[in-house]
Amino acid sequence: MAPERSTGNRIGAEDIRRRKGGVPVVCLTAYTYPIARMLDPHVDLLLVGDSVAMVLHGHATTRGASLEMMIAHGQAVMRGSAKACVVVDMPAGSYEASVAQAVASARRITAETGCQAVKLEGGVDMAAQIAAIVAEGIPVMGHIGLQPQSVDKDGGYKIKGRSRENIAALFRDAEAVEKAGAFSVVIEGTVEAVASDLTRHIAIPTIGIGASGDCDGQILVIDDMIGMTVDRVPKFVKEYAKLRDTIAEAAARYSAEVRSRAFPGPDHVFSTTSGKDQA
Ligand code: KIV
Repeated sequence: MAPERSTGNRIGAEDIRRRKGGVPVVCLTAYTYPIARMLDPHVDLLLVGDSVAMVLHGHATTRGASLEMMIAHGQAVMRGSAKACVVVDMPAGSYEASVAQAVASARRITAETGCQAVKLEGGVDMAAQIAAIVAEGIPVMGHIGLQPQSVDKDGGYKIKGRSRENIAALFRDAEAVEKAGAFSVVIEGTVEAVASDLTRHIAIPTIGIGASGDCDGQILVIDDMIGMTVDRVPKFVKEYAKLRDTIAEAAARYSAEVRSRAFPGPDHVFSTTSGKDQA
């Protein structure tokens, strides 16, 4: 295995690897500077997920993410955080074609963002890519089970681990990702008991989303978790706030006050007599 990258005061990939079987690893996605600042004190790991393509850019699937998009959001999250391990997703089309393509994209993401690690989707089929990126000294987080970049091919967001054949494939994928040198692996949209068995079966931390409370950590998409999702909220999401209601109420009050000329009031304008030059 390549030597660990310097992470300064941040939590590094090796710190996450050592959390196997310990206190659960707290992970959330983040895409922007202010959200990264707010989350950083509370989490171990911030994932700049390719879900950004859907959540912030309105694409129909995560395949709408580009390398440039991931790098721009990765830079913002790095600027907004000081402690968390920051992992940037490799977007669809940036790694699947060849080992050389995967290494070039991973190098570009880490060089241009300074993030601690990259994540890519796939098991047995992407083991060569994971091993080659790890050999470059870039830590990799795997992603097995439901793989959002493949939903078109898969015929939708289908829960994994429902048949004997699929369970066997999941175990092969988990073993391949571990053997290739990944420091942890996301298990998404997988039957609870299967995700639990997978967690016991491999020696790297599993990070669950729609998986099992037995996983070594949990992740949610930040906009889902704070109640910003305007369309269907998936079953596995728990909303810890309902910001869409707060935002709608604020917009309605602002709108009423502008129309009635209640805003701006005396506190929000500059008079010739008050001495302050600072807005
Ligand atoms: O892109 C993303 O947000 C993810 C998480 C759902 C794990 O991959």
